Order: sequence, then structure tokens, then C-alpha cells
Amino acid sequence: METLSGKDKELIRSSWESLGKNKVPHGVIMFSRLFELDPALLTLFHYNTNCGNTQDCLSSPEFLEHVTKVMLVIDAAVSHLDDLHSLGDFLLNLGRKHQAVGVNPQSFAVVGESLLYMLQCNLGQAYTAAMRQAWLNMYGIVVAAMSQGWAENGEDKAD
Ligand code: HEM
Repeated sequence: METLSGKDKELIRSSWESLGKNKVPHGVIMFSRLFELDPALLTLFHYNTNCGNTQDCLSSPEFLEHVTKVMLVIDAAVSHLDDLHSLGDFLLNLGRKHQAVGVNPQSFAVVGESLLYMLQCNLGQAYTAAMRQAWLNMYGIVVAAMSQGWAENGEDKAD
């Protein structure tokens, strides 16, 4: 697993300090952007309640729970910047679960783009090229582990 530079960690921690206190509204901005970038992803959120269009989906309690789950994973990564490898098994397993519910690993990258969009909206001038790169580096590590779990799950099923 890759590691982050001291500067990356400093930028990530400073920017998450206030965002992390208000996870759901920021997560909703992220997922609204996600559905703008790839509306087909809506179909993967078929909970009991209707998730037929973006507005229905964004106000469904199960969907908001998923938003919270995603934000908690990001929060956990930010809290473990010095030892991201300690989240390795959890992230592998998370990748497996997403393979099982039909999420394509390429979609993790679209979530990453949406995360950057949300950061840009909120950080204003603090959203510099270095800030963007620090988050890309961290999210890249998270997604690499999830994608590995995703691939392993696919292989198990092919056996
Ligand atoms: C387009 C991308 C994604 C889609 C379509 C998607 C969809 C889903 C679905 C359908 C579930 C199962 C139902 C549920 O628990 O709500 C799930 C579970 C979950 N997702 Fe995602 N997801 C995506 C990306 C992510 C990302 C990037 C993260 C974290 C960084 C994440 C974190 C979680 C967590 C923590 C769970 C719960 C797993 C468990 O039950 O233990 N998801 N996701």
C-alpha cells in the first residue's frame, strides 16, 4: 500500500476538520454530482423506497445511510493517514461487497471526481493544486484496496 507525504497529510487534515463535522450535507453534494456525471448509477441504489430519479434517491433514508457510510469511510481514512494499511482488510472486504451488489470499480473513480468537486465547492481558495493532489493520493489508496477486493471476489465466482 502506498504512503502519503507529510504535506499531503497536513492538507487533508486541515481541510477535513470542518467538512467532517457536517458529513451528510457534504456527502449529498458529492452524490448529486455523481449522478450528474453518471446518471446510470442511480439504478444501483434500488432500495425498498423508490429511487427512480435523482431527487427521490437523494431523499430516500437508505440512500442517505449509504452517503453516511461513504463519508465515514473517508473519515476513517483521514483518521488513519499515518497507518492507512490498518484499514486494508476492511477496504478489501468493502470492495468485495460492492462487486456483489453490481458496482463497477470504474465507478469508484467517478465518486473520486465527485469528492473533488465537493471539496472545491467548499474550500474555495484553499482548494489548490497541491490540495487536489493530496486528496487524489489518499482516495487512490482507498480505491486501490477496494478494487483489489472487488477483483478477488470476481475471481472467486469464476472458479
Ligand atoms: C458509484 C459508486 C457506489 C455505489 C453505486 C455503491 C452502492 C452500494 C450499495 C448498493 C451498497 C449496499 C446497500 C447499502 O449498504 O446501502 C453499498 C454499501 C456500502 N458502500 Fe457503497 N457504493 C458506491 C461507492 C462507495 C464508496 C466509494 C464507498 C467508500 C469509500 C462506499 C461505502 C459503502 C459502505 C461502507 C457500505 C456498507 C457495506 C456493509 O454493508 O458492510 N460505497 N454501496
